[in-house]
Amino acid sequence: MEGFADTVLDWYARSARDLPWRRPDASPWAVLVSELMLQQTPVARVLPAYEAWLARWPTPAACAAEPAGEAVRMWGKLGYPRRALRLHEAARAVVDRHGGAVPEALEDLLALPGVGSYTARAVASFAFGQRHPVVDTNVRRVVARAVLGQGDAGPPSTARDLAAVEALVPAEPARAARFGVATMELGALVCVARGPRCGSCPVAATCAWRRAGCPPYAGPVKRPQRFAGTDRQVRGRLLDVLRAADGPVPAAALDAAWAEDVQRARALDGLVADGLVDPLPDGTYALPG
Ligand code: ADE
Repeated sequence: MEGFADTVLDWYARSARDLPWRRPDASPWAVLVSELMLQQTPVARVLPAYEAWLARWPTPAACAAEPAGEAVRMWGKLGYPRRALRLHEAARAVVDRHGGAVPEALEDLLALPGVGSYTARAVASFAFGQRHPVVDTNVRRVVARAVLGQGDAGPPSTARDLAAVEALVPAEPARAARFGVATMELGALVCVARGPRCGSCPVAATCAWRRAGCPPYAGPVKRPQRFAGTDRQVRGRLLDVLRAADGPVPAAALDAAWAEDVQRARALDGLVADGLVDPLPDGTYALPG
C-alpha cells in the first residue's frame, strides 16, 4: 500500500496549508492545544484562539498555574467549552505526572484527561514523529471512498477504523506521521463530504469509489447539529456574560442574556453540573476558580 501513501504524500508536499501547529517549531504542547481545539471547530476559527492561548500559556505549567475559569475565558467562542476544562486538567496532569513535559508514550497520552484515541495518536505522531494510524472524520471518509468504495464512512468504530488506516500507514515513522496529516488534509480540501473535488484528487485514478461509479452513500445519515435556539446556544450566551466580566456576576446579568426562564435555568444548571460555572454562596455566578 506504499503506492497510495507515496501519492498522498507528494500531493501534500505541493498542496498543504501552512498551519502553525504543523510547523517544525510547534511544541508538543502546541500540538495538543491545536488538536483539542480542532476536534469540533474549523481551522479558521481555531487560528486566533490558538495563537492567543499559546501567547498567554506557552507551556503546560503556565496554563496549570491559573484557575480553570481562565481556560474557559481563553476558549472564547470556540464552542464545546468542556474542552477548555479538559485541556486545563490535561495541563495539570502533565505537570503532576510528567514534570511539565507532554509525554511521548501513547499510553501516557491516552491517560491524560480529555485525550482520546484520536488526540493521543495525533500528538504521538505529529509532535513526536511516531508511527500510528491517526483517524479523524476526514481520514475515515478518504479511506471509505478510496479503499472501501463507499460514498462516506459508516458510524465510527475505533478498532475497525484503526485497523483500516493502519494498513495504509508507511513503515518509516517520519513518513507515517506526515501521511496522517496528509490524509487529513486530503479529506479537508479535496475529498470533502459534499461535492468532492475528484478533478484535483491525486488518487482519483485508483479510487475504489470512483471505479464503482460513485455510488451514493447508503448507510445511516449523520444529522447536522442545529444550533439556533438550542441549550447549547443558551449556554454560550451565559458563558459570554461571564467571560466578559472581571469577576462574579449577579443572576440578573445572566437573566438578561436569554429571555426564556425555563430554558435559561436548564442551561445554567447544565453549566454548573459540568463545572463550567460556579454558583457562589452570595447568589452570584463566576467562572470556576
Ligand atoms: N493538522 C494537524 N491536525 C489537524 C487537524 N486536526 N485539523 C486540521 N489540520 C490539522
